[in-house]
Amino acid sequence: MNVKLSNQPLALIDANLTLEFITPKGFETHPHRAILTQAGFKAEGEQLCTLHEHRLMVCAIAEDATAELYRATMANAIKAAMGFNYATLKIAQYGTSMFAPMIEGAVLGSYRFEQYKSETKPSALTQIIFSTENHDGTTNDFDELEITLNQTLIIAKATNFVRDLVNQTPYDMTPQAMAVVADTLAEKNDLECTILDVSSLEAKKMNAMLAVGRASHNPPHLIHLTYKPANPQKIITLVGKGLTYDSGGLSLKAATSMVTMKMDKAGACAVMGIIKAVSELKLDIEVHAFIGAVENMIGGNAYKPDDVLRAKNGKTIEVRNTDAEGRLVLADVLGYAQESVKADYIFDFATLTGACMVALGPYTTGVMGHNQELKESFVNAAEKAGEYCGILPFNRHLKKLIKSDLADVCNVSSKPYGGAITAALFLDNFIDEDMKEKWVHFDIAGSAYTESAWDVHTYGGTGAGVRMTLKWLMEQCK
Ligand code: BES
Ligand code: ZN
Ligand code: ZN
Repeated sequence: MNVKLSNQPLALIDANLTLEFITPKGFETHPHRAILTQAGFKAEGEQLCTLHEHRLMVCAIAEDATAELYRATMANAIKAAMGFNYATLKIAQYGTSMFAPMIEGAVLGSYRFEQYKSETKPSALTQIIFSTENHDGTTNDFDELEITLNQTLIIAKATNFVRDLVNQTPYDMTPQAMAVVADTLAEKNDLECTILDVSSLEAKKMNAMLAVGRASHNPPHLIHLTYKPANPQKIITLVGKGLTYDSGGLSLKAATSMVTMKMDKAGACAVMGIIKAVSELKLDIEVHAFIGAVENMIGGNAYKPDDVLRAKNGKTIEVRNTDAEGRLVLADVLGYAQESVKADYIFDFATLTGACMVALGPYTTGVMGHNQELKESFVNAAEKAGEYCGILPFNRHLKKLIKSDLADVCNVSSKPYGGAITAALFLDNFIDEDMKEKWVHFDIAGSAYTESAWDVHTYGGTGAGVRMTLKWLMEQCK
């Protein structure tokens, strides 16, 4: 979808369809009130109504609607408009603070993933034109709105880039293919890209990551992307879980739980999307994205429950469940990332536990770490960016649940509750002492993928983590 800003008043913009948001109060004096009433429109809830003879689509919105509501309403309206035969749509401003949410609604709401459809019907609607004029007739500054438009487009397109990656099948998006995507992105966006293959991983003693990938025909790859501006104000390390498929390994998943496990690479895809957007926004922050791209499969050489693995930082891990593989991969990638870069902050993104979904529901990202202020700053950034985050608290009792009688730590908890937190406390074993307060772990198991549309999301990958992290990073540059 092409999104444009025009400094013409709405009435003078040439477009096939006008989209108008109507509040209950605005509806009282609306010029088309009679016909809209006849059609059953009351300016309530999520009502949409199209008067084709007037080339007008109206959309109900509450008087005190939040940015979140504007974003979701815009997504609904654009999805509906894509069902018609109009090529262009125009809309006014509804207060400058609603402009970015409306753009996000349009770009994220119009997303379609059709790579695996043999027949596709492209939508007639290809362009959305925003006027600088407000709905009440006042006008906004073009230059300011244009900055918002350009930034928001970069962020929304990066989110769709992530969705495209997540949605690809495990056959297409193997660890090797992830490395190719990273390489191509590096070429295009002028990033540095280093890729470690199995022999380099062996040389670097990344035995936990290697064990997880051992039974797969698609060997593991560690990807390191770097964005280096001339005068960085901060250095940030991002780490992503990139399980291109998680069968569970020998602790095999049940048939129904295995479906959707192509999304177990969503953390890796998110960090690629973030570094893509940071480089396009030209933020004064040095960003390192580390990805552990691995496939967790079964086979005669598979790693086993009862194995003990020595991670990169020297700690030994008792494996009691091969389906708790993400934390093993992250243990090594976190170790490698901290050894390679002395960062101001380290954030990891992972579809780590089903337990996170049990705790917070399927829409919310779990936020964990030792630094309360830092975690809260992410909850705030997420709210502004249109994502849900909830803090899951650590405590010393939960920490005891991953003690091992055999090794330094066990990869699963001895109790069935609090699994999102015990997984994070496992990762804590691989965070260096001087990085404890600088680390945040994001469990995106619930938020990264959906099989039913919600908010600006359609079926598939959501791009969870991208918008909130970019909002947080942009706030660091102020
Ligand atoms: N990739 C899964 C977590 C997951 C589950 C993500 C559902 C998205 C949706 C992870 O590797 C896993 O299998 N975790 C286990 C951990 C358990 C064995 C301790 C889980 O959540 O059941
Ligand atoms: Zn698993
Ligand atoms: Zn997994």
